[in-house]
Amino acid sequence: MRVGVLASGHGSNLQALLDRVHGREGVEIVAVGSDKPGATALERAQRAAVPSATFPRDAYPDRAARDDAMGAWLADRGVELVVLAGYMQLVTPAFLARFPERVINVHPALLPAFPGIRAVEQAVAYGVKVFGVTVHFVDEGVDSGPVIFQRALALPEPHDAGTVRDALRPIEHELLTEAVRAIAAGAVRVDPDHPRRVYVSFDG
Ligand code: GRF
Repeated sequence: MRVGVLASGHGSNLQALLDRVHGREGVEIVAVGSDKPGATALERAQRAAVPSATFPRDAYPDRAARDDAMGAWLADRGVELVVLAGYMQLVTPAFLARFPERVINVHPALLPAFPGIRAVEQAVAYGVKVFGVTVHFVDEGVDSGPVIFQRALALPEPHDAGTVRDALRPIEHELLTEAVRAIAAGAVRVDPDHPRRVYVSFDG
């Protein structure tokens, strides 16, 4: 399965994919895209000899044009699964239509709690004692698509956002790599009668 990754920042989730699934079990990361020309994620792609490209919002007349160019670039590279790994932009419905049920995202909260940006900060400000990570299919809403994997992390004492983010990061890496592996293995199935129900089974 040919995978394209979109990332805006540090790219630790991209690195986990490069280290743990790239070149194994039929998974190839063939493209890394970003909206941020200086993103560390692009350097990681370069180091791994994966083609990369940037699609800054201000280089295009509007979001639709940017996503059209980005979607065409990914499609030209034969991408079958798009992974949003810290990609801090919404993608357009036309972009999603190119890769039906094949765009996933990792989010540092137990959705539907705390969707959108600064999820960890929101959760810390609320004072929650159970944090977590969600990997989900991307739909046209904000972090609202069907859940593939979710894992909670209990932190009974108050912590600052940085500490919580550090504690969640290994969970993100594990769930995201596992989701890519599972999709590549054909082990992820959305119930056509209940599209919110996602089954993950390696037994067929
Ligand atoms: C992660 O917390 C991810 O959940 C969120 O953005 C962050 C990206 O981290 N969507 P990195 O760039 O992969 O290190």
